[in-house]
Order: sequence, then C-alpha cells, then structure tokens
Amino acid sequence: MKIADFRSDTVTRPTQAMREVMSAADVGDDVYEDDPTVNELQNVAANLTGKECALFTASGTMSNAIAMKVHANPGDQVLMDEESHSMVYEVGLPATIAQVLTRQFHSVNGVPDTATIAAWLHAETLHTPRTSLVILENTHNRAGGTVIPLGVCKEVYETAKMDGAAVHLDGARIFNASVASGKTVRQYADYADSITFCLSKGLGCPVGSVLCGSSGFITRARRVRKMLGGGMRQAGILAAAGLYALKNNVSRLADDHRRAKLLAGAFLDTATIKPVVVNPETNMVYFNTNLPAQEVCSHLAENHNVLCNPTALHTLRMVTHLDIDDEAIEMAISALRAVCK
Ligand SMILES: Cc1ncc(COP(=O)(O)O)c(C=O)c1O
Repeated sequence: MKIADFRSDTVTRPTQAMREVMSAADVGDDVYEDDPTVNELQNVAANLTGKECALFTASGTMSNAIAMKVHANPGDQVLMDEESHSMVYEVGLPATIAQVLTRQFHSVNGVPDTATIAAWLHAETLHTPRTSLVILENTHNRAGGTVIPLGVCKEVYETAKMDGAAVHLDGARIFNASVASGKTVRQYADYADSITFCLSKGLGCPVGSVLCGSSGFITRARRVRKMLGGGMRQAGILAAAGLYALKNNVSRLADDHRRAKLLAGAFLDTATIKPVVVNPETNMVYFNTNLPAQEVCSHLAENHNVLCNPTALHTLRMVTHLDIDDEAIEMAISALRAVCK
C-alpha cells in the first residue's frame, strides 16, 4: 500500500545509486582532516558558494549553532526573523548554546524589512549590547518556502556591513531558492559572511549540512563543531551521498516545485481548505483548514495513507520532495477533498 509522506523533505530515503556511492566511498579520520571524501565535499561546497572554506556538519541546526557561536560573543544581540527556524525550532539554542540576545524582526512572506534591521543594528555602548549578527533564512520555511529576493539580501548585507555586523544565511533550502529564482547559490552566498545548506532535505541525503565561510571562520567553526560533539570520523560515507546529490539531485527540485503548485492550485476555490500561498514558489504548501488541522492530519493518515503535520490550530503543511511523485499528489488532492468536505 502506497504511503504519500508529505511531512517534510527530510523523510526521503537514499536511492540505490546513492547507497552504492556511499558504500564505495574512500574514507579516513575526519577529525584529523584525513577523510578524502569529506575534503572533496567541502571543496565542492566552498566553490559552489564562492567561499574560502567549508565544513561538513551533522545538521542544519548544528551549522546554525556554530555560526552563532563564531560570529557572536555571549550577550551580543543577534537579529533574526521571529518565524525563523533558529527562533522557533532549535530548542532555544540561541539562548542556551550561543548565549546571545535575540531581537526578532517581522517579515512579510519571509521577506525582511531592511529599515527595521538598520534601526536595530548598533555598537556596544555603556547601555546597549553590540549587534554582531543578522541571520536570514532562504527559502523561508514558515512563510511557505518563499524566496527572499536577491536584491533584499544585498540590501540587508550592505546595511549590516555599515555597522560591522556579520550576516549568516540559513540556506537549508538555498538550492530550492536557486532553482526557483534562476539565481546561483553563489549569488545568494555573496551577500552573506557564512552560509549553510542542508544535504538531508530536498537533495535527498540521509544526513548532513555544509557550513561555508572564510578560512578564519571555518577554523573557528571546526573547534566549535568539536565542542558540540560533531567531530565525526569516517564521515566520507555520508559525504559521498552529498557529492552524489549535488551532481544529480539539484535540477530535479523543479519537479518538487511544479508538484507543490499543482497541490495548492487544486484548492483555490474550496471553501473549507485554502492554500496560504496561492502559487508556492518552492516545495512547501501550507493550507488553512476549517476543521482543526490535527483532526485533518489524523484522518488523512488513518484513512488515506497521506501523511502531513499541523503547524498551527487551523494550518497544516505539506512538503514535496524526491519521494513524492505525481501519483502521490493525486492521492493528496483526493484525500484532502474527502476529508475537508
Ligand atoms: C530553514 C531551516 N533551517 C534549519 C533547519 C535544521 O536542519 P536539521 O533538521 O538538519 O537540523 C531546518 C529543518 O527543517 C530548516 O527548515
């Protein structure tokens, strides 16, 4: 029985071809920087993003934690979106691990207001903390997988630089942003001091993210990664999946975006369920539902083999990915029609 799993693009399982390159990977002890496959992945990532160096990390959350700890001292102010992953889903790590003061800006469809950021950037005085970091998220998950336009990234970067603050880009899904916008990952990375992207989401790997930045930043990042318990040994087995994904799984993200549009587009005229973003740019579809979203998700799972998660009382999220084909989209559309009558 087919199960259509829309809970996240993290649910993909490695394909046979990916498993084969993983099992054949040349490996060494990466804490000694001896793993040739990890080194190759880091070089490829640094080239892709136009940064001097890169570091393989266990997850996007770990990359964001490292970036905060390297760019900011305890007590510094870090500006981030009130709905960002770092703010909402990282178990309070800005406060606990990075020990920073967060100031959260509001964005419209995931796009921040540069004037607010400019107003909140300040140097250390007798009274105020230094603002050392601005974090952007592109694509923006909770805003519906929206793309922050390159022009806004540039504006935020230039604003931050005027006050000596760093910019970290949580580009967990920057390849989705790139495929949707036609801009290169490097163009987005040009307006950030550090960028992380996830291999374990739309790119279909079982594990891993890559954090990229200057050579000085990565030297410090490597120590923080070790401190967080993220020094891995024969990690080339995982890095091989990343290299495979960067070669084979990027351009196909356009299929995920096409399917997300199909899914949202099927409910434009339905009174009981409405897409929050009518024409999603990437691979996320959020629906507002008349029935409680938890109830809708339970019915979909129990009676229709369609899995998704509520994100608020009357909102649920469906994410397209490598393991969602056209048949799964049809399953989801007819199941939502049956449940949200
Ligand atoms: C925008 C964003 N950043 C970071 C992360 C964290 O990634 P991980 O699950 O690898 O820790 C996620 C995960 O969904 C995310 O959506």
